[in-house]
Amino acid sequence: MNATGIERCGGIARGVRCSILACVVALVAAHGRGESAFPDTSSARQTRGREHLLTRAYLPADFDQEVFDALWTTWEEPLKSRAEQAPVEERRRMAMERYGLVPLPSDPSRSMQYVVDAAGCWTMSCLACHQGQVRGVAIPGVPNSNYALETLTEEVRLVKVQQRKAFSHMDVGALLLPLGTTNGTTNAVIFGVALMRHRDPDLSIVQRPPRFDLVHHDMDAPAWWHYARRKSLYADGFAPKGHRMLMQFLLVKENGPEKFHGWEDEFREIEQWIAALEPPAWPGSIDRELAGAGAVVFADHCGACHGSYGPDGSYPDRVIPIDEVGTDRVRLGSLTAKERGDLNESWFGHFGEDAAGLQDRESPTGYVAPPLDGVWATAPYLHNGSAPTLWHVLHPKQRPAVWRRTPTGYDNARVGLEVEELSEMPPGRLLPSVRRSYFDTRKPGKSAAGHDFPDALSDEEKAAVLEYLKTL
Ligand code: HEC
Ligand code: HEC
Repeated sequence: MNATGIERCGGIARGVRCSILACVVALVAAHGRGESAFPDTSSARQTRGREHLLTRAYLPADFDQEVFDALWTTWEEPLKSRAEQAPVEERRRMAMERYGLVPLPSDPSRSMQYVVDAAGCWTMSCLACHQGQVRGVAIPGVPNSNYALETLTEEVRLVKVQQRKAFSHMDVGALLLPLGTTNGTTNAVIFGVALMRHRDPDLSIVQRPPRFDLVHHDMDAPAWWHYARRKSLYADGFAPKGHRMLMQFLLVKENGPEKFHGWEDEFREIEQWIAALEPPAWPGSIDRELAGAGAVVFADHCGACHGSYGPDGSYPDRVIPIDEVGTDRVRLGSLTAKERGDLNESWFGHFGEDAAGLQDRESPTGYVAPPLDGVWATAPYLHNGSAPTLWHVLHPKQRPAVWRRTPTGYDNARVGLEVEELSEMPPGRLLPSVRRSYFDTRKPGKSAAGHDFPDALSDEEKAAVLEYLKTL
């Protein structure tokens, strides 16, 4: 790549100097750490945690404003011509919609998913996957079910070639690893495995040959408001909670151990913000009588795994063997006991101390039955995001083989994404950006089979449970 100094952000060759020094250091200075401005109460710490997520660039920058503003030039027709004729604000809105970005309320030309600094450098944040919107409303901690990371990265690369700018870590990483084959889900677990491979337990960087046997698969991010209820993290519950565990996503080679040490306090605050999040209330009406009947059915058929709700609620955090739950197995088999153990025995898990209270978690037998608070807002369902609505979770035999969501539609009756259901992928060659708008449950890691427990219920009981789930 030409490096004549045109680019201000990112770039493997010059990025270390440009993005780390210009972007990160400038941001630290600009942010002024802020601590002295606030009293040190837990609510002030939570507020600062949220601020860090929105303002701190913990990774090298991905692209600059000039690249973002030219992304439309790579789009298919008729979208491209529409963008060409549109004013710049409208073009930016179109770009946000295409890539599943949520406009920042205070400045709709920016998104909650990327921190943008004074130089116009865009840097991916945790909120890329962990902040979405439901019915057009951004709910704190709701997973981003629209994020089109792979399409965004591909189109950023095309523009960078045109503008003769260097590739960033994400642009290069995407050539080695798939980022996500369906919008709204990502290969995030395997990013972590691939990056951890080049670290010793104390996070010092060691070069090891890359692995070619990684089991790539897409995951639906979980809701952050479950954090306080859960005793362990992730679909298979192998990892202990803790502010250090939350930093795993920052393992790019530009971040050495000293950066992780320096950011610990900020991640304590981020953890406090996440742990204080509350599930959102269902915004529509509820048939209280029906929901009451559903509560009884739920307690009999679901509560032993998913817990109880309300003021005296309790949550068991149970791992259910894979043969019993019967959902897609790829995620469970994608990590080895050694990989799970290495993470827990590293700096991220205080060298094994954090996992002391979790037993037998390195070789889990299945998936954790997740808490269901605010479950109405977290579609699609199951760990791989294969069931578009709660109705589909409750009707295992009627889950579609292929489905495609409408861009922002919400299905009030079935509670979840508004979808078009298909028995096959559409014929012919689809553009990659279009292909990623379909969820094909027959692809590896994407099965919507299993969790047949609702089969024990009559249709009336299912309708009652669906109504009850809205109240959680
Ligand atoms: C590219 C998307 C992506 C990004 C970026 C990302 N995450 Fe996640 N996160 C996921 C996915 C997917 C999972 C589920 C993994 C699993 O269960 O195996 C997850 C799981 C989690 C969980 C566990 C929740 C639970 O209930 O088990 C927490 C907490 C979390 N992420 C915090 C963070 C923080 C903090 C950051 C930023 C430092 C971050 N994530 C960045 C995708 C992402
Ligand atoms: C034997 C334990 C068990 C029983 C009984 C059970 N579930 Fe589950 N449930 C699970 C597990 C495990 C998962 C996670 C599966 C996965 O993601 O692959 C799950 C996932 C779910 C999800 C998806 C959650 C999400 O965020 O994606 C919903 C909704 C759900 N269950 C509802 C119910 C209802 C309603 C009942 C009762 C009719 C029920 N479950 C009975 C174990 C159980």
